[in-house]
Amino acid sequence: MNILVTGGLGNIGSCLCNVLSENNDVIILDNFSNNTNNIKADNVNIVKGDVRDNIVNDLASKVDIIVHMAAQISVDESIERPIYDADVNINGTLNILEAARKFDVERLIYISSAAVYGIPNNIPIKEDHTVNPISPYGLSKLTGERYSMLYHELYGLPIVCFRPFNIFGPNQNLGSPYSGVISKFIAKIKRDETPLIFGDGNQIRDFVYIDDVVTGIIKSINNDKAVGEIFNIGTGNKTMIKDLAEIIIKISDKELRPEFLPSRTGDIKDSCADITKARKILEWEPRYTVENGLKLCYNSVRNI
Ligand code: UD1
Repeated sequence: MNILVTGGLGNIGSCLCNVLSENNDVIILDNFSNNTNNIKADNVNIVKGDVRDNIVNDLASKVDIIVHMAAQISVDESIERPIYDADVNINGTLNILEAARKFDVERLIYISSAAVYGIPNNIPIKEDHTVNPISPYGLSKLTGERYSMLYHELYGLPIVCFRPFNIFGPNQNLGSPYSGVISKFIAKIKRDETPLIFGDGNQIRDFVYIDDVVTGIIKSINNDKAVGEIFNIGTGNKTMIKDLAEIIIKISDKELRPEFLPSRTGDIKDSCADITKARKILEWEPRYTVENGLKLCYNSVRNI
């Protein structure tokens, strides 16, 4: 099959493209904002461009399937620059949807975010939980979802949406101010510094390993029951941030203790996915525990 992956040079994108390129012809559309290229295969065609531009028509005309994950991904940036965030995440998605409609693609997979839920009323969170984003990013991702579903209903576009929870894996940018808690803790511990915990550390997250996310996405490509559906992608396992720090310190074999700082403003207290739907319809099961995934992440960082 011919597959277009927008944002294919990002963390999840490159991991996905490396797997897809084993059996498919892959085209990546990316604006090179990540500054790295982890694509291993040489049969991947990498095109530099923007999802808001006309180039998407040209590329959509050549493929059977589109995975759309190019996005403005930072919550902080979305609060600083809400118009830019909306332009990339909403207009960029609309541009992709139109191209997909025009060229009759067989599947469009839209990568949304657990940020659409905002502060959950209860955990684990099912897909039919109320959506109430608390950042422009969450709102722009939700709008992309809504447009996707509308295109499915109005034009019969075969859409699948995913709401990933806290994704982690090797190759995350340890220096980036926008990287997640796992990258932050690993960077600190590698430098023999104390990891910083915001709040009491009792807050819960659902950390899902990148390879499991990729498997879930791939499973939706050939599954007709997935069309028109939205799936949480997490593990259903709750990890407290203070336990996360302890696990990484244990892996490092260093004598460090985390330091506790005031809570981050706007921080969500607890978040955890209910993944019953993906288990049932996609026959998908996450394989990595937090411990296994963390070992792989920690050991992948050589020099810092
Ligand atoms: C994550 C996503 C965000 C998404 C949201 C949806 C990342 C980087 N962010 O935010 O895009 O909108 O889920 O639910 O994946 N923490 C520390 N010390 C640190 C860094 C963080 O204690 O050095 C704490 C935070 O206060 C938070 C938890 O760790 O309670 C997780 O933080 P983070 O990795 O930034 O992700 P989320 O806030 O869950």
